[in-house]
Amino acid sequence: MNPLEVTGLSVRRADGRELVRDLSLALAPGERLGLIGESGSGKSLTALAVMGLLPAGMTSGGSVLLSGTQVIGTPDRRLDRVRGRAAAVVFQEPLTALDPLMRIGRQLAEPIRRHRGLRGVRLRAAVLDALAEVRLPERVAGAYPHEISGGQRQRAAIAMALACEPRLLIADEPTTALDVTVQAEILALLDGLVTERGMALLFISHDLAVVADVADRVAVLKDGSMVESGRTRDIVREPRHAYTRALVNSAWALESELDRLAP
Ligand SMILES: Nc1ncnc2c1ncn2[C@@H]1O[C@H](COP(=O)(O)OP(=O)(O)OP(=O)(O)O)[C@@H](O)[C@H]1O
Ligand SMILES: [Mg+2]
Repeated sequence: MNPLEVTGLSVRRADGRELVRDLSLALAPGERLGLIGESGSGKSLTALAVMGLLPAGMTSGGSVLLSGTQVIGTPDRRLDRVRGRAAAVVFQEPLTALDPLMRIGRQLAEPIRRHRGLRGVRLRAAVLDALAEVRLPERVAGAYPHEISGGQRQRAAIAMALACEPRLLIADEPTTALDVTVQAEILALLDGLVTERGMALLFISHDLAVVADVADRVAVLKDGSMVESGRTRDIVREPRHAYTRALVNSAWALESELDRLAP
């Protein structure tokens, strides 16, 4: 069964404006899809609609199947059981996923306890394993989110997302808020974890150069509609849509500019 199947997804605002239009995509186990588009093109709303987490006042239509479970129109209570195991999200801002008033170890213990039924010493060992997996030292377990760096917070948020061993990981610009060297570390970490666990990955970014590094396939969003999709290699070499060509050109222009500036 595919971790994700989206057919004819639409997202509407309360005033009736359609922000995502007739979007269809599917992810097989272990497959990696990059979703790109400029700011405001509907990438985050697509991710939220897939998880059934749209902001109040927005409605979705069409079909979203997470490992076979229909998300659209399903009450939140029932989706709670699906989220975490079928799919989890890492957001741009790690504090979205972290409770500022709870130590990292305790936050991480909660989903691990629920998912694996562990307690006491074994639960504590599993929490430390989860931290080690995202290369965080043991002492982070006793820290509050504000006591660790932005990169460490994103690692903790990744550990939270992985706690229930989801079949699909959605990463919505997971490195945009971090400085460049930390970005590369977090991307490499995500890449390794997705491979190790054989998870499917929906990787959202406005940066085609970053997407090209992690995704096998790319879907291009413009004003809420998918204008092009295909294998990353083909899209980068021969973009068909003018909008995609512009994205390719700006990604490569920046890259050669950085090469020029590099010592
Ligand atoms: N809570 C909201 N209320 C009203 N409109 C919203 C809301 N969230 C998003 N929108 C609108 O929906 C459109 C798509 O937004 P979305 O956040 O999905 O864009 P995005 O592609 O993720 O952009 P970015 O790259 O800046 O993150 C935008 O026009 C935005 O203004
Ligand atoms: Mg966004």
